[in-house]
Amino acid sequence: MPPPTYLGIDVGTSSVKAVAVSADGVVLASADSPQSVSVPAPGWAEQNPEDWWQATIAAVTATVNQLESPSQIRAIGLSGQMHSLVALDRSQQVVRPAILWNDVRTTEQCEFIFDRVGPEMLMEVAGNPPLEGFTATKLLWLKQHEPENFARIAGAMLAKDYIRFRMTGELATEPSDAAGTLLFDIRRLGWSTEICSKIGIDPWILPPVVRSSEVAGQITVESATLLHVPEGTPVVGGGADNACAAAGSGVVAPRTMLVTIGTSGAVVAPTAEPSADPGMRIHSMNHAEQNTWYLMGVVLSAGAALAWWRSTLADSGDSPGFDEIVTAASDVQPGSDGLTFLPYLTGERTPHGDANARGVFAGMNAAHTQAHMTRAVLEGVAFAMRDSVELMRPLGAVPDSAVAVGGGARSDTWRQILADALGLPLKTVGPAEGAPLGAAMLAAVGAGAFGSVTEAGAAWLTTDGQTDPDTEKASAYDDAYHRYTSLYPALADWFEAGQQQ
Ligand code: XUL
Repeated sequence: MPPPTYLGIDVGTSSVKAVAVSADGVVLASADSPQSVSVPAPGWAEQNPEDWWQATIAAVTATVNQLESPSQIRAIGLSGQMHSLVALDRSQQVVRPAILWNDVRTTEQCEFIFDRVGPEMLMEVAGNPPLEGFTATKLLWLKQHEPENFARIAGAMLAKDYIRFRMTGELATEPSDAAGTLLFDIRRLGWSTEICSKIGIDPWILPPVVRSSEVAGQITVESATLLHVPEGTPVVGGGADNACAAAGSGVVAPRTMLVTIGTSGAVVAPTAEPSADPGMRIHSMNHAEQNTWYLMGVVLSAGAALAWWRSTLADSGDSPGFDEIVTAASDVQPGSDGLTFLPYLTGERTPHGDANARGVFAGMNAAHTQAHMTRAVLEGVAFAMRDSVELMRPLGAVPDSAVAVGGGARSDTWRQILADALGLPLKTVGPAEGAPLGAAMLAAVGAGAFGSVTEAGAAWLTTDGQTDPDTEKASAYDDAYHRYTSLYPALADWFEAGQQQ
């Protein structure tokens, strides 16, 4: 008899990933289906929800084909890129391409929300400041710039929730993703009709909210044929990708921390209560585990910064692989011999909340090589993550070590740089799938295999490595971090004046 199996699907920005996990935590099969982002104007980022669905079909089919039998799948969990707005009309067709989490066209709408709602209610109810990534700002942008599309909206949802809709025909979301809209009451776990009415959004367009591990629908006949999974398979609420990456890495209890480098980077620190940064720079959101929240800092271009740098090298005729350029960078001294990189290629979320910020190489001299520039990119992302850790210190949320996941953290060189820059030992866990594994855990909890995400994590995960910070290099990194943090204030006005174009 094939073992009971739980499927986790992460609807990411650069790919859709699926993993099939047995009840005792063995990854039996997995597959990825890559996708691209369209940039219709500078600072914009869009994807077609139909492309997510096609990528989901490809990734799930390839995963299921590696199993003994599709009938072993007991439940499915979904994880996905946060904030990205999918709008459906009355006949449940997509109104326009999704506006993504890293699209920064909505600065004016952020100011409108700030003025209408006010900082107290934003922090007390929504847990977050109005930043360009958040879904509510995208709805308001449509209202102002595409009124005919806005008038057609009968349902607004997030990436994974659209995939659930295609799989089950049900409209639903859950607290961890709802928290990324700015329309959710993160304490009462329901939509905030007060915020909605203050900014002119009809709460009826928002989906019902279920718990992350609660069954929200079943695979329909039609999607069963496309996905090659049995009709009627339950699909649980699931979670935001950062919540699922944390759950899937055992980062659920207070005084634990996740650092993740995917397309974006995030520092996630669970809390027993919603906890607010008085400076409004750190997000406060619902975790995928019940009665748990987390603080989060977000680096918009983390893996994306290295991918950009590699593609510029490829454009110049060279076509190096990631491993090749990162290995060359490992020979350069910490601090990149004075070269500093700000990874603000699409603006920055934490700590600056500045859509106008842009990437910078500063301090170049004639001795610097391509390898120095690569190292400066790796260090710049690590310092951007340190900015979030430093903001969490006064909130008492920084433990003695963190767990590292994501493509970037899989590189020994980058993980060491991160450990050195943060001054924290970084543990790695197995299985190391992160977000899709967290989604599979939620499916297993929903199917009754475990009583909670914490229980599932204890059964499925083991620590399989630790990267300790090199104390001899600490002062070189401190100097380089100081150079890094002094650059943004020196350039903020220049960014704001739009000098960078
Ligand atoms: C979190 C955020 C990103 C996306 C990436 O607030 O915007 O980390 O979730 O998918």
